[in-house]
Amino acid sequence: MAIARAPAKRLAVITRAPDILVFDSGLGGLTVLAEAQKLRAGARYRYAADDAVFPYGEMAGEKLVTRVGRVLAPLIAARAPDVLIIACNTASTLVLPVLRAAHPDIPIVGTVPAIKPAAQASRSRMISVLATPGTAARDYTRGLIESFAGHCRVTLVGSPNLAGLAEVFMRGGGADEAAIAREIAPCFVERDGRRTDHIVLACTHYPLLLDIFRRLAPWEVEWVDSAPAIARRADALLHGGGIAAGAGAPQGPGEAWFTSGHAPDAALLRLLARFNLVPPRAVAPLFPLKD
Ligand code: DGL
Repeated sequence: MAIARAPAKRLAVITRAPDILVFDSGLGGLTVLAEAQKLRAGARYRYAADDAVFPYGEMAGEKLVTRVGRVLAPLIAARAPDVLIIACNTASTLVLPVLRAAHPDIPIVGTVPAIKPAAQASRSRMISVLATPGTAARDYTRGLIESFAGHCRVTLVGSPNLAGLAEVFMRGGGADEAAIAREIAPCFVERDGRRTDHIVLACTHYPLLLDIFRRLAPWEVEWVDSAPAIARRADALLHGGGIAAGAGAPQGPGEAWFTSGHAPDAALLRLLARFNLVPPRAVAPLFPLKD
């Protein structure tokens, strides 16, 4: 006897514009937002920067976890994003489990150093990881090196100043090339006739300086940025939630939140406009959130 099968349940396809919230300590996360915008032109983007306490690079672990939770909780409550992207390696290497436990209904994508693809692609088997001091010191990063780069000589560089230099550059303050050259110099290593051929950009601020890095590099290397992969992951999670690829239509400007509560100056407004962002009309009562 034939057994009647229940019709397979189909996930309803949602065609409205998805809400994507991108978070970083400063402007570095814009490198990830730009990649997400390429994949989901019809989404509504919101950006949050914790500029009140920037940088995160040398913040103690527990303080960082508490801080990120405090900043994001009111934004998540107010805007209910369809996906949250933590566009910050320094935060992601610590806060993801805590955030996921606090917000089980929100898909959360983290940013972690692209050590695996760099190690796989390296021909000299000498790679460097250019990160903030926090990311360089984390067990998470060391675990990635052990798991995926055992066949390589890995130079881990925790730069205390690069994120700040990128932030100044993006806010129209110019690029201190001598300082930038000093920060990237330890990434270039020559040993036994081999030299570094891949450098992982393990902080979302660093791709903002990529043209300058290329110009200052003592030899040509591949600079490995995880932003496109993070954007693909966010896109896949939206698909998984039934939000179709072409959902939505090109949107008006999205909101860019700054925890300092400072009104952006003209240079910052121009930068935000390049990413189709504007400051929200009302910042209070969410921000300022000083410490
Ligand atoms: N953009 C951040 C990252 O990816 C951190 C910059 C900072 O606050 O030090 O690690």
